[in-house]
Formats: sequence, structure tokens, C-alpha cells
Amino acid sequence: DLKDVADFPIGNIVSASKLASTSTENETFKGILNAEYNSITAENDMKMANMFTGQDTYDFSDGDAIVAYAKENGFRVHGHALIWHQSIPNWLNSFAGTDEEFEAQIEGYVKATVAHFAEAKDTGGNPIVTSWDVVNEYFDGSSVRSTLFSQRMGNDYHKKVFQWAREADPDVKLFYNDYNIAGEVGKRNAIIGMVNDFQTNGIPIDGIGMQMHLNHDWPTSDLPTAIQDISDTGLLVHVSELDVKVNYGDDITELTEERAAAQEVQFQRVGYYYTTIVPAAQQYGLTLWGFRDRDSWLYDGGSEWPLLYDNDFDTKIAHRGLVAGL
Ligand code: XIL
Repeated sequence: DLKDVADFPIGNIVSASKLASTSTENETFKGILNAEYNSITAENDMKMANMFTGQDTYDFSDGDAIVAYAKENGFRVHGHALIWHQSIPNWLNSFAGTDEEFEAQIEGYVKATVAHFAEAKDTGGNPIVTSWDVVNEYFDGSSVRSTLFSQRMGNDYHKKVFQWAREADPDVKLFYNDYNIAGEVGKRNAIIGMVNDFQTNGIPIDGIGMQMHLNHDWPTSDLPTAIQDISDTGLLVHVSELDVKVNYGDDITELTEERAAAQEVQFQRVGYYYTTIVPAAQQYGLTLWGFRDRDSWLYDGGSEWPLLYDNDFDTKIAHRGLVAGL
């Protein structure tokens, strides 16, 4: 089992509805979750569009159900994600108030959410939600992505959000999370520049989440370089959303042996470089982004096979690859 092989937490994604369901399918899913993993991330339930239901109004019920499951079954919860341009509730998108009023809404949301989930403790009194992706995908290449947040609050909005999160909870680990940190050198350097700026100016940040949405043949040499560069910041390093596409060129109609083998190698490489490059004290964990291929956000009606389990929940050789790398 993955969690027994690794020296750091191994995570995967959940939803409140799947955890609540007692269908055969979901019982199988929970069996694998409990056997192989010790960290969970909400795939969507703890994003802003789900929890920020109206002005000064929050609905934490799905997140609370996930936290309750974590408490009962001994998982930690990684909070995902406070600010992401792809998860904005409709009412906020069309918010007619001034920029100051908009910012007050965001401050209220961030502080209320972090404070709420800080209350959940395990039987030993330790927090269950140990970390948050505070800002997700702030950069677009090496530039600041233009989003509702940058437009309403200015390009330095991310600094305020990290500070609000810290004010709401002095202990929770605060992560910056992004994709293509391995693969896009310009983006990686922009992130490292941001970390340096935060550290110089006393803005709190504890870790970097490398999403790791990879392809079977990409990235190659930049993968270890990226993990090294991010480790060199001295912050915690989380592989936060690992999956490996095998059909990005849409040139296969079933998972071929050759692609399955290339995928196995890619999972092994991620496990191996993470284990050997990141110092133990900085290894926050490695999180997969789904169970069966058909559950993946990349499934594309059946023309992608990005994950560790096939549609019957049997392990693919990719699973063997990750185990070998860890
Ligand atoms: C995805 C979920 O998997 C989908 O179900 C949802 O429709 C969109 O979001 N980067 C992230 C994740 O940080 O939150 C995204 O998750 C995948 C890309």
C-alpha cells in the first residue's frame, strides 16, 4: 500500500457525496482510500464557489463532512483552495459594490474559512486541516494572471490573502499552488521570485504545491531540476495533484502497452525524484488527483487514462511505478 511505502503522507481527492454514499462502488472507493492513503484533499467541496454562498454568507457543510470522515478514519486534510480564478461564485463575479467592498468580502471569506476549519481537532487535540492552498494559479507563465482578484484588488492581492490566512490561524501551513512548475521555467522562476519577495517583506508562506499534471513523455530533464529548485527555497514541497496523461495528442483509442509503460515510468520518476531530492523535513506529501481513470477531470469521455486505477478499481502498472519510485 502506498502509504506504507512512503516516508511522508500520501493523499488523494474526495467529495462529501462519495464519502456519504454506501453504494458498492463508493464502498470500494473508501476501502482503497483507507488502505492506501493518509491525507485527503477536497476535489471541489472546499473551493470558494461551493462555500461562499452570498455576501458575508458561508456554507461549510461539505467541508465539515470531509473533516468528520478524516477525524474518524485518521486522515489529515489539506485545504484546497482559498483563492482560484476558476472557482468564483456567480454572485461575486457580478458583485456591484466598490473595489473596497469587494476586498472586504474576500477578507471576510478568507478569515472566516480558515478560522472555521482551524477548530476541527483530532482526539489528541491536533488540527485536522493542517494546510491550505491559499492562492492557486496566480501566475500565467511568468506574468501575473489577470483575474477578478487582480482587477479588483491589484496585482499584490496575493500578499493580503496570505496575511489574512495567517491572522485567522497562526499555525496552519500556507501553500502557494500552481501547475507546470516543472516544464515552464519562466513560471517557476516567477514563483521563486515571489517567495523571495515574501521572505524579504515578512509575508507568511510555508510551502509550494507543485500540481504535477504531467504527460507520459513530459517533462523530462526539467522534472528533477524543478523539484530541486523548489526545494532550494527551503519551504515545504507538496506534489499536490499528480496525474499523467497518456493521450494528449489524441492518437490512441485504448491504453496501449507502450503508453501504459511510459506512464509507469513517469509515476516512478515523480516518486523517485521527490523522495531523493526533497529533504525529509520539507516533504509535505504527495497527492494523487483521483482514483479510477473514469473519475479523472481529464477523462474526456473515455479517451484519457491518467490515474493509478482502472475503471474496475484494479491497480494499473502505473501504481507499481509509483511504489517503485517512493
Ligand atoms: C478540478 C476538478 O478536478 C474538477 O472536478 C473541476 O471541475 C475543476 O477543478 N487544478 C486545480 C484543481 O487546482 O482544483 C482542479 O480540479 C484541476 C486543476
